[in-house]
Amino acid sequence: MSGSNDHIDDNARRYGKQAIVAAAARLQSGGLVAVPTETVYGLAADSTNAAAIAEIYRTKGRPDFNPLIVHVPDLDAARKLGIFNDLAVQLAKRFWPGPLTIVVPKAPDCPVAPAVTAGLETIALRCPVHPLMQELLESSELFLAAPSANRSGGISPTTAQHVERSLESNTPMILDGGPCASGIESTIVAIRDENYQILRPGPITEEELQRCTSKAAINGQEGRVEAPGQLASHYAPSKAVRLNATKAEPDEYLIGFGPVAGDSNLSANEDLAEAASKLFAALHSADASDRARIAVAPIPKNDIGIAINDRLKRASH
Ligand code: TXA
Ligand code: MG
Repeated sequence: MSGSNDHIDDNARRYGKQAIVAAAARLQSGGLVAVPTETVYGLAADSTNAAAIAEIYRTKGRPDFNPLIVHVPDLDAARKLGIFNDLAVQLAKRFWPGPLTIVVPKAPDCPVAPAVTAGLETIALRCPVHPLMQELLESSELFLAAPSANRSGGISPTTAQHVERSLESNTPMILDGGPCASGIESTIVAIRDENYQILRPGPITEEELQRCTSKAAINGQEGRVEAPGQLASHYAPSKAVRLNATKAEPDEYLIGFGPVAGDSNLSANEDLAEAASKLFAALHSADASDRARIAVAPIPKNDIGIAINDRLKRASH
């Protein structure tokens, strides 16, 4: 590569025109690329290429019952893959591009590889707002399947360094766009005829969904794990995690919030959006520290605090 900014090493490349072209070429030939979105870094591949999808599952060590989100440039593209009723269109028009994943019935001629949906009749679609991911979608002209770019069950990556630390020798080319703004995975909503169900809380809150649709979300069917982000243990650091801690034990790394200072603080002035954006980075730091255990300060259970507490609960199992 000739541009001085385009090349860091064999894997990580900064965001630049040449890097996008190289990444698109890699994807078109069935390769993987780690790419930032506004939520977390994704591990992207051509969703219509079965071998490339198998490589995602292998790289993540992901159980094959766990389906992938397909990223599209806009609603028109999404309609080639899934069936959008009025409610789905309403949500897409209000929240796309952005951190909302919509689960809809698969279109009859949906071209994605069967492994993407892991045998389900539905497909999870998302139109990301991050300019780098948008450029990659445009430049590659592909629909990109992309789970979070971490080993299955591990902490989601919000920087290129996290991707490398989690995937180790399996790390593919990374487009390094710096830290992700939102820092917590997209809200997942499943369309159920005229109703919707929240499968995973995220940056788009239940109140925002309600305001858009003028109706409340319906409750899920108990015990049916449809989004494995719903598995009790997920996003787990390798160390024990204690929640609602106001003080650290001597062997604990304390992740603080507001007045609970901690070894690092998610948001000194109790801003929940800031806390969400720093959550996974804090868990990565705590996991890499010399302390044997991790403690986390209480986080309010409103707005995006619901998603933060959801991830913390799974991290503590
Ligand atoms: O913010 C995000 O959503 C990030 C970025 C990279 O876009 N992606 C992400 O992907 O978090 P992943 O694979 O880590 O989580 C996707 C979740 C999984 O829990 C999966 O079970 C669920 O989406 N999912 C995928 N397809 C589904 C479907 N057809 N029905 C229900 N859940 C589905
Ligand atoms: Mg994930």
